[in-house]
Amino acid sequence: MKILLTGAAGYVGNIIKDHFCERDELISLDLLPKEDGQIQCDLKNHEELLHVSKNINPEIVIHAVGNKNISFCETNPKEAYQINCDTIKNVASVFAGKAKIIYISTDYVFDGMCGGYAENDVPNPKTVYGKSKLSGEIEGAKNAKESFITVRLSALYDPNATFLCYLRQKLSSGQVVECFSNIRYSPTYVDDFLKILEKVILSNDGTNVFHACGKALSRYEFALFFAKVFGFDSGLLKKQLYTKDENLFLFPDLSLSNKRTCELFGIEMTKTEEALLEIKKRLNL
Ligand SMILES: NC(=O)c1ccc[n+]([C@@H]2O[C@H](COP(=O)([O-])OP(=O)(O)OC[C@H]3O[C@@H](n4cnc5c(N)ncnc54)[C@H](OP(=O)(O)O)[C@@H]3O)[C@@H](O)[C@H]2O)c1
Repeated sequence: MKILLTGAAGYVGNIIKDHFCERDELISLDLLPKEDGQIQCDLKNHEELLHVSKNINPEIVIHAVGNKNISFCETNPKEAYQINCDTIKNVASVFAGKAKIIYISTDYVFDGMCGGYAENDVPNPKTVYGKSKLSGEIEGAKNAKESFITVRLSALYDPNATFLCYLRQKLSSGQVVECFSNIRYSPTYVDDFLKILEKVILSNDGTNVFHACGKALSRYEFALFFAKVFGFDSGLLKKQLYTKDENLFLFPDLSLSNKRTCELFGIEMTKTEEALLEIKKRLNL
């Protein structure tokens, strides 16, 4: 399969690249490529994309470009829309009808008030980040029609995930870590994400939105699982209550539901404890 991967030098892009590069013909593209052979292109620029797309005829385009820095997006809305929406709009218009286009989106398209959001629930983003990503979903679908697919993730975690590295560093040196117990999400384990991506690439039944996520839990509960699996003292974890005054753009419950996606593909998501055990193994711990 010939796959064009945009945002290949980013966190999600690297994960996708490492998974597909051995087996498939992978063409990597980014704003500032970090490896030989990657195409340099500013996807905000339609002409530039038209030029670089001339001699590549991908069957699949995976768009892992974006800016997920919520504070940056709040203070720089124009740039947020350019990166999170205009880039996919350009990609969708250039490859419409020629390739299946997969857009990596986010739980932040929902308002985060009640959680358990299904693929067909009406989005209602409360941040510029969420609004610009939702605009990307809408513009992509408008331009590429039925060949456009959205895959929404919650926080993605693999052995290099920032939150896991932070917990490991703090707990291994005996430091207390405060974690929000009133903020829920549904973190996405890397292998589950890749499993769903594989299924989405092959699927052809007209479904165009998928949720790749794990079980809903609070940040404190996730940290408890981490401490247990990695053998740290869970007494070092302290419950913290988030109040809106902290202005961190967190919401009571942004968790997604994976029910429809799992049923459609006949798969089950990995349990949080098992996912963390596998990560521990991959870190040779
Ligand atoms: N990471 C997660 O847990 C997570 C969860 C849910 C959804 N997502 C979505 O996944 C996407 C990627 O996230 P990430 O964590 O991988 O972010 P990331 O590490 O910042 O990667 C994004 C990549 O896109 C590139 N890029 C930015 N503007 C570009 C442009 N105009 N043209 C070409 N490439 C451009 C960036 O290049 P520079 O670094 O040079 O700017 C970077 O390499 C985001 O849209 C986010 O909404 C991520």
